Amino acid sequence: MTLLKDKKEHRGFYLTVTYGCQMNEHDSEKLAGVLEGEGYHPTEELTEADIIILNTCCVRENAELKVYGKVGQLKRLKEKNPDLIIGICGCMMQQEEVVNEIKAKYRHVDIVFGTHNIHHFPKLLKQAKEQKNPLVQVWDENTELIPDMPVQRTDDHRAWVTTIYGCNNFCTYCIVPYVRGREKSRPVEDIVREVEELAADGVKEVTLLGQNVNSYGNDFEDKTDFTDLLTALNEVEGLARIRFMTAHPKDCSDRLIEAVANLDKVCDHFHLPVQAGSNKVLKAMNRNYTREEYIDLIERVRAKNPNASISTDVIVGFPGESEEDFQATLDLFEKVEYDMAYSFMYSKRTGTPAAKMEEQVPDDVKNDRLQRLIDLQSSISMKNNQPYLNQTVEVLVEGESKNNPETLTGRTTTNKIVIFEGDTNLTGQLVNVKINKVQSWTLYGTIVD
Ligand code: SAH
Ligand code: SF4
Ligand code: F3S
Repeated sequence: MTLLKDKKEHRGFYLTVTYGCQMNEHDSEKLAGVLEGEGYHPTEELTEADIIILNTCCVRENAELKVYGKVGQLKRLKEKNPDLIIGICGCMMQQEEVVNEIKAKYRHVDIVFGTHNIHHFPKLLKQAKEQKNPLVQVWDENTELIPDMPVQRTDDHRAWVTTIYGCNNFCTYCIVPYVRGREKSRPVEDIVREVEELAADGVKEVTLLGQNVNSYGNDFEDKTDFTDLLTALNEVEGLARIRFMTAHPKDCSDRLIEAVANLDKVCDHFHLPVQAGSNKVLKAMNRNYTREEYIDLIERVRAKNPNASISTDVIVGFPGESEEDFQATLDLFEKVEYDMAYSFMYSKRTGTPAAKMEEQVPDDVKNDRLQRLIDLQSSISMKNNQPYLNQTVEVLVEGESKNNPETLTGRTTTNKIVIFEGDTNLTGQLVNVKINKVQSWTLYGTIVD
């Protein structure tokens, strides 16, 4: 990774629109790294931009619909400004039928590339500037590790760091393995060097990214695993916090649980996507754990890390999910008492096994289940936050709060959002905040010494 210190002459403006997960957010930082290296400055105004790149997601249908809406909207801009360069990249572009549709119906798009050849972006950009014909370059597979690229971070004090690309799990609903390819771990030395450079540059918190961080190192000859990586990164001077996501419940080892408890920089938070509470549905999803094994895992996590928070992802309305199956999800939520849950309605993804399953659940039933689950989780989160009242917590200040003007926002080690008053020059520092009000998703307090 190269940090961009020397900005070249001003060549124009760029705008990236990012859909999807942190991997995509981080990829967009790489696109920005390339563009800023070439003298382009960021803008938030579509009409001001000379280069617009849409970095797409296809994990659910509504993510794709948003992209088609946006790319359609860009047609008029291109008509007004024929020199505008429009690029589309990311997970959606790894699907052949999507690329064909873009080629056929959205002829104002200049560059199309995928997730496996993001490092070819500089070359494609250069070619697009020289010629008028659309350029499409999507690689089918990630045969090699994606080379490191310059990164223009969106945050001065927090950074994303890729540990492992791809996914080998093939959960039956999920498109990610088809669009992100097979698992490939980055060498420990590369990651440590990157984190050392980040810390030297003032970064206080890194979030280690991987679709399943527990698989880290499975493709190495030696036995280095994710716990070894955490142990090495815990030594990096100047770094205050290490987060990671996502750990798959099927292979979350006791070693990892203990490492989170023992390594002082590793935050007290586990994101353990459960996806469903019924064994029948978990099996059909190919999650490779049972409800009982999952609950046992949560008990092991809580035994070693009593203060850690736990969050999850869950899907309602997977094909064949009966009301009884859904009740099992509600029941699991009541037992586990998550701090937070990302809840999704099942979305059919062409090419995945679940898309062909019979007994697809009607939309109104999915909607109703989603609402019931969200209502339950909201009350559990509220209850879980009560013990924070009158406690003093350490918060890494992230900056001014967007939703609460003239206040600061930050997070606890347990990933709780805290709102409090203070000077913006505290951004990037650890402060102690005494909590005086709690809601389901937010804590409020005042800074104390
Ligand atoms: N690798 C991570 C998550 C990747 S996608 C993991 O395994 O946990 C993020 C979340 O999107 C998933 O956890 C799942 O809850 C949700 N998701 C994936 N495919 C989906 C689909 N077809 N419909 C609805 N939600 C989906
Ligand atoms: Fe998708 Fe499952 Fe891989 Fe997560 S582990 S990315 S849900 S296939
Ligand atoms: Fe992420 Fe969406 Fe791709 S969730 S991995 S950007 S399909």
